[in-house]
Amino acid sequence: MRALTVIPLQKGSLAVTEVPDPEPGDGDLLVDGLAVGVCGTDKEIAAGEYGWAPPGRDRLVIGHESLGRVRQAPSGSGFAPGDLVVGVVRRPDPVPCGACAHGQFDMCRNGRYTERGIKELDGYAGESWVVEPDYAVRLDPGLAEVGMLLEPTSVVAKAWDEVEKVGSRAWFAPKTALVTGAGPIGLLAALLGVQRGLEVHVLDRVTEGPKPGLVRDLGAVYHSGDAGEVAAKLRPDVVIEATGAGSVIFAVAFGTAPYGIVCLTGVSSAGHRITIDAGSLNRDIVLENDVLIGSVNANLTHYAAAADALARADGAWLRRLITRRVPLESFRDAFTAGPEDVKVVVEL
Ligand code: BGC
Repeated sequence: MRALTVIPLQKGSLAVTEVPDPEPGDGDLLVDGLAVGVCGTDKEIAAGEYGWAPPGRDRLVIGHESLGRVRQAPSGSGFAPGDLVVGVVRRPDPVPCGACAHGQFDMCRNGRYTERGIKELDGYAGESWVVEPDYAVRLDPGLAEVGMLLEPTSVVAKAWDEVEKVGSRAWFAPKTALVTGAGPIGLLAALLGVQRGLEVHVLDRVTEGPKPGLVRDLGAVYHSGDAGEVAAKLRPDVVIEATGAGSVIFAVAFGTAPYGIVCLTGVSSAGHRITIDAGSLNRDIVLENDVLIGSVNANLTHYAAAADALARADGAWLRRLITRRVPLESFRDAFTAGPEDVKVVVEL
């Protein structure tokens, strides 16, 4: 079958290649791949900056924002042919560490976790794939066009879960949330904030294209000004940070309400230096009981929360997040950013 594969850490190696048909192991589901979403991590892998091939192999099948339709399901698996499914990205480390032993592989402590399409396990950008039923999530059939948004939604479902867990250490009744960055992660974080009944504000640099309208149609407020000024005006109780840009991170960290929680979700590259007043920042965080949390990946509870959030969302709004759909053979177009892009998907 054809799959989108890469030699990790080798720039320019991304290609559609012939790979052996996946063989379902005992109990596995065999799935026809429908589409994969492309995110910043995929672009980093394609640029030769991230990623690990399976042991003993050169090439990795990429793709971790999956969507497929079950072709074959063993009886008793809880799945049936025709089911719309998404494969979970991460698998627990083999030790396992305490977190992985408790199903919290998103919180793995020893770094020996594996990830489909990213770290040592083939991903989902193939014409078919296999997945263990315990790591497959069935989607509402109405999500057939947008189900590849489940994985990024699981990432923001985890971010919100972290915020609420940290918030619950004392009285917590947040009203205002600021989301920085109006890419797919930011927009999905805003969706989940609106679903929680919060007053949601979204900040991005652009003033044109689909992002301002997508934010407004959620019932949220769009901002394109300076992050520090916007945060100082809003004094948000919660910030979901999805730019990974140092200047934005520190501007919002200074600008929260007392007991403010900033959840960082953007993976930045090393080597960006800025000057900050560390004394003031420390003083602000201490005197306000503020918290900065990092959040990555998602466990099965977050996938379930994300599936529920997408099923409750406006389908037309979700479809507008997918600004381009390109066939597998034109994958290069999906890895080249266009000015109007939100989420680009590769159809399998
Ligand atoms: C994926 C996560 C993954 C992370 C680090 C992100 O793009 O959505 O599932 O854990 O990259 O590899």
